[in-house]
Amino acid sequence: MAGPLPLGDPAPTDGRLPGDLPIDTSVPFSAYLHVPFCRVRCGYCDFNTYTSSELRGAKQEDYATTLITEIDLARRVLGDVGALRPMDTVFFGGGTPTLLPAGDLARMLDAAVSAFGLVDGAEVTVEANPDTVTPEVARTLAAAGVTRLSVGMQSAVPHVLAALDRTHQPENVRTAVAAAKDAGLAVSVDLIYGAPGESLADWEASLDAALALESDHISAYALIIEDGTKLARQIRRGEVPTPDDDLQADMYELADARLAAAGFDWYEVSNWARPSTGAGAGDSASGMDNRSRHNLAYWRGNDWWGFGPGAHSHVAGLRWWNVKHPAAYAQRLAASESPAAGTERPDPEAHLLERVLLLSRLAEGIAIAELPDANRSRVAGLIADGLVDPAAALRGRITLTLRGRLLADAVVRELTD
Ligand SMILES: C[S@@+](CC[C@H](N)C(=O)[O-])C[C@H]1O[C@@H](n2cnc3c(N)ncnc32)[C@H](O)[C@@H]1O
Ligand code: SF4
Repeated sequence: MAGPLPLGDPAPTDGRLPGDLPIDTSVPFSAYLHVPFCRVRCGYCDFNTYTSSELRGAKQEDYATTLITEIDLARRVLGDVGALRPMDTVFFGGGTPTLLPAGDLARMLDAAVSAFGLVDGAEVTVEANPDTVTPEVARTLAAAGVTRLSVGMQSAVPHVLAALDRTHQPENVRTAVAAAKDAGLAVSVDLIYGAPGESLADWEASLDAALALESDHISAYALIIEDGTKLARQIRRGEVPTPDDDLQADMYELADARLAAAGFDWYEVSNWARPSTGAGAGDSASGMDNRSRHNLAYWRGNDWWGFGPGAHSHVAGLRWWNVKHPAAYAQRLAASESPAAGTERPDPEAHLLERVLLLSRLAEGIAIAELPDANRSRVAGLIADGLVDPAAALRGRITLTLRGRLLADAVVRELTD
């Protein structure tokens, strides 16, 4: 269950926002709706999610109704400080949103749209575990206004899926993607590379299988060994090998080469999308952009409200986060209290650090002018080391080269230390 929440300051029990927030209603607004349920926990995962035996009385069937009371609270407190605006993107994440009946997801989306409105061409994504997507689920979601399904494929190789404790069979991914496409949904697939026992040839097979699905968006994440997970314990006891950094780097290079050859562009270190075609291509406001506009909103530091247990929110430089457990979350809202557990307003130095950290991982990069004065002189060294693109730097921006993407954390340290 993800590490502890940040400490921060206590959050007001009525959820009110400070009156002096520098609200800019021209900044796009997004909503994240967390669904904290999974049938079983995958051995590598530390997301804030719970299996049925861990719910301590919280009821999955009451979840949509509970979350809608947080939507009512958000509408009230955002309205009080003049920060109401229609949603640009909506994202149901988890956990496994598709473990809830599709009608519950539709009800939460309806409530959010009634509270805030939705811009034309908005992106509405639902994350899905492949074994929970039937043609009927996909059709119900599309009819409710969902535009995009993000499918947790992870791998196409049975022994890799087993090492990750995944419950789905490779063919479930194909049927889930077909159901989504038949319903008119855009599709993204998530892959993980570097699982114990996964070879470069296994990874190549997964990339080929992902490309054969003909989606317009692929995320490929290096397996992270999170503290407190079953996988971390297995590694500590020597039952499975630690992931090999060099092999993971080779896997990243292979992914980038394969995806580029298939017409995908990287736009964030772990994310690739096909360029849009047709009228309005490349114009995110028209809805023709295949990149995840919701994740771009986080990386660019837009405003969003995160609904649900453990969800984080950001409005005009103020951050807050909800209590983690679904039972605590439901109790707060049943008592007409805000579920927020803590809040903070990062100082300018922390804010800048975060901007560099997030924007330098994007292909659009960060303006050199935004860097702390003392760090600008380091850009020349990063170019000489082949980590930063010289042509982009001439245009005043930091964009990582392929080598830079492999060493993104080191580049960020150099730009911020
Ligand atoms: C909330 S999950 C996706 C939806 C659904 N629960 C599923 O797993 O199919 C979000 C994504 O995060 C990635 N992820 C989770 N834990 C990870 C880890 N320890 N290392 C790398 N990627 C991870 C996986 O690719 C996963 O698809
Ligand atoms: S299904 Fe997804 S959210 Fe649930 S435990 Fe597995 S990776 Fe984590």
